[in-house]
Amino acid sequence: MCGIIAYVGHKDVQPLLLEGLKRLEYRGYDSAGICIGGEPGFFVRKAAGRISVLESLLDEERAAPHGRIGMAHTRWATHGAPTEINAHPHTDDKQLVAVVHNGIIENYVAIKQFLTDKGHKFVSQTDTEVLAMLIGHFYQGNLTRAVQAALHEVRGTYGLAAMGAEEPETLVVARRGSPLIIGVGKEEYVVASDAAAIVEHTTQVVYLNDNEMAVLAPGTFKTMTIDDIPVTKEVQEVEFSLQQIELGGYPHFMIKEIFEQPEAIANCLRGRLDKNEGRVVLGGLSQYSRDIVRARRIIIMGCGTAWHAGLVGEFLFEDLAKIPTEVEYASEFRYRNPIIEDGTIAIAISQSGETADTLAALREAKDRGALSLGIVNIVGSTIARETDAGIYLHVGPEIGVASTKAFCGQIVVEALLALTIARRKYMSQSVLEEFLRALDRIPNQMRLVLRQSDLIRQVASQYSHRDNWLFLGRGFNYPVALEGALKLKEISYIHAEGLPAAEMKHGPIALINPGMPAVFIATRGTQYEKLLGNIQEVKARGAKIIAVANEGDDHISHVADHVLTVPDTIEPLQPLLTVLPLQLLAYHAAVERGCNVDKPRNLAKSVTVE
Ligand code: M6R
Repeated sequence: MCGIIAYVGHKDVQPLLLEGLKRLEYRGYDSAGICIGGEPGFFVRKAAGRISVLESLLDEERAAPHGRIGMAHTRWATHGAPTEINAHPHTDDKQLVAVVHNGIIENYVAIKQFLTDKGHKFVSQTDTEVLAMLIGHFYQGNLTRAVQAALHEVRGTYGLAAMGAEEPETLVVARRGSPLIIGVGKEEYVVASDAAAIVEHTTQVVYLNDNEMAVLAPGTFKTMTIDDIPVTKEVQEVEFSLQQIELGGYPHFMIKEIFEQPEAIANCLRGRLDKNEGRVVLGGLSQYSRDIVRARRIIIMGCGTAWHAGLVGEFLFEDLAKIPTEVEYASEFRYRNPIIEDGTIAIAISQSGETADTLAALREAKDRGALSLGIVNIVGSTIARETDAGIYLHVGPEIGVASTKAFCGQIVVEALLALTIARRKYMSQSVLEEFLRALDRIPNQMRLVLRQSDLIRQVASQYSHRDNWLFLGRGFNYPVALEGALKLKEISYIHAEGLPAAEMKHGPIALINPGMPAVFIATRGTQYEKLLGNIQEVKARGAKIIAVANEGDDHISHVADHVLTVPDTIEPLQPLLTVLPLQLLAYHAAVERGCNVDKPRNLAKSVTVE
């Protein structure tokens, strides 16, 4: 989704901003722009399309200045088409202020009318131009005051940076509902909506909270609320390095992240499996462990892949911890009138920790009295900070838009939490230890699955021309079927349905035509025999069967056209292995179709608007 990078200090700002924009590309965008200051007035250039288009534009204009202060933006269109005119930065009609903005100004129509009545002229369809115009309208020689005055009038969300033509050394940034991080260097500040654009400059950061702002100039740095009350902020260390967010020889981030999973899961488990004592260690929850063990109900909230991980969690919490659990689409939960009784725990699952719907659902649950827990990857993200307690994934930065390693990390964390509760309630030590051993084996078992990448590429290329695919599973593998279908849809643009296998005959079976690929997750477990029956129903109608099955399952090779194998593990942990062939199938099918795997059309990595 939209990205902001801004800088004030002693470096040549233009290459720094362009590099920063490229680090934000993975979030998804459709136009980009840059503003360079340093002398009275500023230089603004914008372009629809990729950052390379903006770059060529700047190359052609040899006159582009090389100031020491500036800001740039990648836009993911919400209000108005992805055109040059709608791209950020936006200025007011007197060219007094320039603004880049993530988020949505909800009352922009009313403000636009007010400003139009005052004689201001708009050129774009965006809500951000309205914000820039409002700041310009209030400007009386002090940018900070003008930004504060404007922000008192707006409803909605923002992460913003503003520059003033008459204050060539000042950068003003503010946040409400859309992340903004300030990297603190030596006499310099790099502000970005995402730490990925900061870590090459500094790992020392300040996270702005909602309704906070900062005024930055070379070597000086003030933080306050938008009501101008000074706030003292702690400088913190970012967790990941630049090397972790580079490709390291892989053609795409997605395949890099798929192959990183054994290491990522080992990191996620590190320090949490105490094999000597035979116990799970989750330090982040210690303060609330009594409430958690006594929980009467769990509500899991998330979107997309995180929601699928939540569905696996539902099985884990009910099966192992015996706590009634519901999984909610965060976007639905926030607008319902949810019933939260005493003893309810709300768990927000989010890789980025910034998904707007998940954050809003979390706040709703908290307001109604739930104890809130976060299962989040990005340290210091908004969801991580707003939950009462939480467990980080520690799977490293996930850059590919299609979530892969975060899914497995989310399941591992849910399993650890479910086991912690289970052991305090009903689970024997020997059963717990069996789980711990099984978890410990997962990274190596993942390596074995990933070795089939070439075979999976061949299967994918055989069916990548087919426009409709089915993904079917039962029990713990039903959410995996949904996840397999989502992966294929989002990066290859092939239509795919994920379903519980038995639901087929209640309607979707009508879709099957000869040659249609149907992927069954058919590992041995409680519903294995029933799933074999479902395969026969689909095969009888001419579908081609791709089965994900256990090594050594001779029976399945007689019914399936292709078999992708996974090692045996305890049934509740199967999703950690069965999802891998599906991630690879989606990846190879998308590459075969010539799709831009890491930047799929219309998609954003972190969905920070409703
Ligand atoms: O950052 P989050 O985990 O909160 O993101 C939730 C979804 O937007 C995300 O999982 C999305 O569905 C991915 N594109 C899936 O690959």
